[in-house]
Amino acid sequence: MIDLRSDTVTRPTEGMKRAMANAQLGDDVFMEDPSINALQSRLAKDFGKEAGLFCASGTMANQIAIKVHTQPGDQVICSWAAHVYHYEGGGMARHSGATAKLLPGERGLFKASDVESAILAENIHYPVSRLVVIEDTSNKGGGAIWPLKDIKDVAAVCVKNGLSLHLDGARLYNRLIVDNTDKKDYASSFDSISICLSKSLGAPIGSVLLGTKEFIKEARRIRKVFGGGMRQAGMLAAAGSYALDHHVDRLKVDHERAKQISEVLDENPDIEEVMPVETNIIVFDVAKGKKADDLIAHLKEHDILAFATGPRSIRFVLHLDVSDEDVEKVVKICRDFRF
Ligand SMILES: Cc1ncc(COP(=O)(O)O)c(C=O)c1O
Repeated sequence: MIDLRSDTVTRPTEGMKRAMANAQLGDDVFMEDPSINALQSRLAKDFGKEAGLFCASGTMANQIAIKVHTQPGDQVICSWAAHVYHYEGGGMARHSGATAKLLPGERGLFKASDVESAILAENIHYPVSRLVVIEDTSNKGGGAIWPLKDIKDVAAVCVKNGLSLHLDGARLYNRLIVDNTDKKDYASSFDSISICLSKSLGAPIGSVLLGTKEFIKEARRIRKVFGGGMRQAGMLAAAGSYALDHHVDRLKVDHERAKQISEVLDENPDIEEVMPVETNIIVFDVAKGKKADDLIAHLKEHDILAFATGPRSIRFVLHLDVSDEDVEKVVKICRDFRF
C-alpha cells in the first residue's frame, strides 16, 4: 500500500531504531534523562528560546501551551481551520475553559487587521482576549505557509494589546525549508512554539514545546497534571534527535513530489480544484456530482490510501515512507483515473 493519508504513518528507519536502542536514559520526571534534556536544549537553542519540554504529542504540546497562557473564560483567537480548534477534541474548552474566536481567511491564514478587529474591549460583559494561535504550515489549509511579514505584523498587534502568541508548528520544518528562513528570527515573534517530530520528520512520537524558562516551568507542571510526565522516555527523544539530524533536508523531496502529483491532478477532468501546493500536503476537490469516497475507494483498488476531508475533498500527504516508485505509480493513476 502507498499510504498518503498522513505524514504520521511513517515507521522508524533502521538507523533511527539503532539510535533509540542506544539512547542514554534517566527519569525525566526528575529531569534526569540525558537524551530528553539534549533534545530540549538543542531545539531551544536553535530557535533562540530559553527552554524546551518534550511532550507525547502535538496535541499535548498545544493544549499545555493554551492552558499556561490562559485563564478560564479567556478568548483564544485562531483561524477557523486551526488544528487546536477542530481536531484536538475541544481541548481548549475541556482543559482550559477557554473560548474561541475563529477568524475567516484563506487556507488557515489571517492578517494582523483580522486579529486587531477580533480583540475585545475591556468590558465586564466580554471574555478577555488573551492568546493568538498561528498554525504554520496550515494542515487544513493544504500545507499553506505563512508569509514572515504577516507573522511579524500579527506579533506586533499581540505585543501592542498584551496578548500572547503561540505557534502550532506541527510541520514547522516544512515551513522553514521552503525559503531557508532563519529559525531564531522566525521564532522571535512567538511566546511559545510547539514542534512535532512525528509528522514529516518521521519520528514515532513526540513534540517539543519551547518558551521562556518561566513558561516551561509551568508547562512542566501542566504536563504532569495531564499525565504526560514520562520516565525513561529518552529512547523517544533519541528518535526525535535522529530525525532532526537526518530527515530535515529531505523534506524538499516531499515538496517536489507533492507539486508533481498536484500538477497531474489539476489536469484530470474529474478533479475540480487543487489547492496551491507549497509543502508536502495536497488538498483537492473532486468534480461536482462526484464523491470523495468513491475516488478513495478507486484509489484503494490501486493500493493507494488517501483521506477524505469533506464530501468532495481529499488530502494526500507526502512523507519519508513514499518511494520514487510509489510517486511514479501515484502520478500515473492520478493522470488516468476517471471514476
Ligand atoms: C497542524 C497540527 N497540529 C497539531 C497536530 C497534533 O499532533 P498529534 O497528532 O501528535 O497530537 C497535528 C496532527 O496532525 C497537526 O496537523
